[in-house]
Amino acid sequence: MSLFRLDASIRVEGSTSREIADIVEGVWRAGDPAAPVTRRHVGTEPLPSGAWAAAVAASGLLPADQSTPGQAEAVALAATLVDELIDAEALLFAVPLYNFGVSQHFKTWVDLVLTDPRMGPAGGAPLAGKPAVLVTVHGGNYSPGTPREGWDHATGWIRRILEDGWHLDLRVVEREFTLVGVNPSLDAFTELAAELKATAERKALEDGRWLLGDRRAAA
Ligand SMILES: Cc1cc2nc3c(=O)[nH]c(=O)nc-3n(C[C@H](O)[C@H](O)[C@H](O)COP(=O)(O)O)c2cc1C
Repeated sequence: MSLFRLDASIRVEGSTSREIADIVEGVWRAGDPAAPVTRRHVGTEPLPSGAWAAAVAASGLLPADQSTPGQAEAVALAATLVDELIDAEALLFAVPLYNFGVSQHFKTWVDLVLTDPRMGPAGGAPLAGKPAVLVTVHGGNYSPGTPREGWDHATGWIRRILEDGWHLDLRVVEREFTLVGVNPSLDAFTELAAELKATAERKALEDGRWLLGDRRAAA
């Protein structure tokens, strides 16, 4: 039993995505307290921003003997990232919404992972069927019927990559309105935000159990 966990929040203190992901991880960990966890803190320890272009340049576009040291490093980094995913039995991603879009650090990580040949069309879909939980948090509220319905341009893209691209068996925990209590203009939503937090925490417990292997019971 092993877990890969990625955190994309740019903060540690007060991070609500980490808080929810901690609930998922805690339930998973109860199954085997000694089980190994591989972590990527892409928000606070970003991957090198030039690695993706270097890895793309190296991926068959240039003969190997013309690769620069930077390209070789980028290819090796991408391979390490993919090894981390393949080696884990369960995956956990905690990704906040930034500027109505996907975290740039998470995007860089995905882009780099996708340069590895194992993740390409001839790679044999090495992650297919692997259980994964995506935790995503939004400062505002983008639920159906809200004024900003449709403004969350991150969750759909992340699902497309993880579910349709990598064929993960994915569950999603979403928590809206994390800025209530931080931004005074949202004070009218205090009660609703508390309910949404409690709902997300319940879902995190459920999905943690599911990630642990209780998938048939929880389906
Ligand atoms: C630079 C920045 C941009 C943000 N942009 C948005 C946004 O477009 N929409 C939104 O709902 N929340 C936005 N937020 C709020 C975060 O999604 C929210 O604070 C979330 O809880 C951050 O995750 P964390 O609590 O794990 O750090 C933004 C926060 C920051 C710091």
